[in-house]
Amino acid sequence: MKIKKPLALCSVIASLLLLSHTTADYGGRSTRSSILFYTNGRFGLEFDIFTLPIQFDSTPNSGNEFQITDGRSINYNGHFPSMFSSSSILRNNQILTTNKDSPPPIHLIYVSERNGSSTIYLDAVYHGGRDRDRRRSALEVSNRVQVPLVGDQQSNGLISMKDRPSLVGDHLIYASTHENIGAPRMSWTAVYSTHLRTGLTRRLTPNGMTDFSPAVSPSETWTAVASYGDRGWSGEIQELRTDIFIFRTDDGSDRVKVVEQGGWPCWVDDSTLYFHRVSDDGWWSVYRAIFPKSGKISVDSVVTQRVTPPGLHAFTPATSPANKRLIAVATRRPDSEYRHIELFDVASKQFWEVTRPVSPQAHHYNPFLSPDFIRVGYHRCGGQRKGGKDTRLLLENLHSPLPEVSVFRIDGSFPSFSPEGDRIAFLDLQGLNVMNLDGSGRHRVYSGTLFGTAWDPVRKGVIYTSAGPYFAPVGNEVDVISINIDDDKLSHKKLTGGTENNAFPSPSPDGKWLVFRSGRSGYKNLYIMDAVNGEKGGLYRLTDGPWDDTMATWSPDGDWIAFSSDRENPGSGSFALYMIHPNGTGLKKLLDSGSGGRINHPCFSPDGNSIVFTSDYAALSAEPISIPSQMQAFGEIFTIRLDGSGLSRITHNPYEDGTPTWGPVSMRAADVQQAVD
Ligand SMILES: *[C@@H]1O[C@H](CO)[C@@H](O)[C@H](O)[C@H]1NC(C)=O
Ligand SMILES: *[C@@H]1O[C@H](CO)[C@@H](O)[C@H](O)[C@H]1NC(C)=O
Repeated sequence: MKIKKPLALCSVIASLLLLSHTTADYGGRSTRSSILFYTNGRFGLEFDIFTLPIQFDSTPNSGNEFQITDGRSINYNGHFPSMFSSSSILRNNQILTTNKDSPPPIHLIYVSERNGSSTIYLDAVYHGGRDRDRRRSALEVSNRVQVPLVGDQQSNGLISMKDRPSLVGDHLIYASTHENIGAPRMSWTAVYSTHLRTGLTRRLTPNGMTDFSPAVSPSETWTAVASYGDRGWSGEIQELRTDIFIFRTDDGSDRVKVVEQGGWPCWVDDSTLYFHRVSDDGWWSVYRAIFPKSGKISVDSVVTQRVTPPGLHAFTPATSPANKRLIAVATRRPDSEYRHIELFDVASKQFWEVTRPVSPQAHHYNPFLSPDFIRVGYHRCGGQRKGGKDTRLLLENLHSPLPEVSVFRIDGSFPSFSPEGDRIAFLDLQGLNVMNLDGSGRHRVYSGTLFGTAWDPVRKGVIYTSAGPYFAPVGNEVDVISINIDDDKLSHKKLTGGTENNAFPSPSPDGKWLVFRSGRSGYKNLYIMDAVNGEKGGLYRLTDGPWDDTMATWSPDGDWIAFSSDRENPGSGSFALYMIHPNGTGLKKLLDSGSGGRINHPCFSPDGNSIVFTSDYAALSAEPISIPSQMQAFGEIFTIRLDGSGLSRITHNPYEDGTPTWGPVSMRAADVQQAVD
């Protein structure tokens, strides 16, 4: 199922607290500036990792569920290392204290997005009885030892997503996006091994290839991955068409394909692994692959069998070497709206529900089993979190790869800065909101379905937006409106006439004109109209053709309009980034995301030398089935200079990032919480 729509979506927003100083410096070349963008659903995730003891006799007692992670940021994709491996790490760092009377600690490796970047942590958690409060947490592992080249102390300047960690002795095996694969529409995700004592990092995936979801065999000799090989991503958003490869964990050698079409491998012993794929009957199902006892291992000699039945979706399997009959899976049953964790007996074909009796109305993801088969872990979305903050963030500071540019995720779509740099406008499902940079004065200035926001550069307090359904065809009425937010009556004005689909206004720097897209000819092309009096004050057609030109943005010097267009392949859903002079000359393509890719929502930097946009240029960063359903999980934020050089990836995550803006505002690099009303 392919869904192709512009990269934008709205979500519900609360209110905000505080922010920081601004240094609006319009003339200077070294202006400090900030990029704000929206991530679909990210602020509502509230992932934490929980565990339940494995038991079959009775209904699991929810009192036995234990939250392992600390409720800060989002914590997911856990792994129970063998005590031997993790103890060695813990001893090195001298955080393990033992008390003969207390139950052994739970050791957990997991991914956390705290501090603005994905980081792999190891927690040793003391639990049960009196020891409940003695938990030790958060020994930061990966970013401290990840060793690329220069810069930032935690990852040498290379921002990345990190995922699916395993501990092998003193080595951490994980997926990361820190190296640019060098071609559009190819995923940067590859598997690395970092020696935790020295920080030495080795790439295990061959250069130019993409590997997801690494899993280490019980003997630690082999690692299995879901590999996209060196094929470009072809746009799938539900089941990634990966194959399973294995290679030697120590150096990536002896790489061989063992299963065609499969993902999320996990080992039960060194010659048996489980994986998921969508079966011919349409159900996500778990399969087993058995390697030959002797002879060459290849797709032809490996025997694969389906193990979970039709009638329910079963995916993201987990195994424990201590029990060869029972695996853990996530399921979607036709009678449940939620994803739950279950155990499955591959011999008797019986399921045991794990999370539904405990927490029926929440999604649970990506189970993992302890090496001794005593407990099952998983992460849950929402529900009761312990520890941490119970208000969600309004602005989340991310590590920025660009010097002098701060990067924030905002809990609202289509953000834009006022020209003075003292206010931010943004949308939620109810309408248009404005707040001061210091967090005060947040209020709704217009209620209704809107998309796109832009401030008039000259007339103070005037914001342009489009009112009407988004993703609508040319025949649906959408109006470009201006709202005077400094007027007590919040007066607003419809600038377009008629019933056409008019949207995405962007004003010229002198405030006299608005460029917008309109479907009035039967195609969405660009037009320019009088910013004060609307179409009645003057209307000019800027582009003309049987294709879509949309999401235009006017450069700060007035000389260029950048926009997104599918003119090379109309109707295909593929959009490239173009520039044109406001007088209609100078049309040029600045960048495309390969053939078939998309670049949307461009916005000029305050100095006019660069453009920020959202794109599928880096394809998908993780198997989509392993994360909450995202319509356009491929959206990541990038910048490029107007001369076509300096393409920079700003975000690294498995979610849908979109609607960026870039303002002449220096924001303090700190998270901002929502105000509690
Ligand atoms: C991470 O953020 C927390 C606040 O959530 C802060 O206390 C801590 O110092 C930060 N750590 C680093 C390494 O920046
Ligand atoms: C069109 O505009 C550009 C820049 O705004 C200018 O350099 C160019 O001379 C103009 N061309 C015409 C034909 O007016």
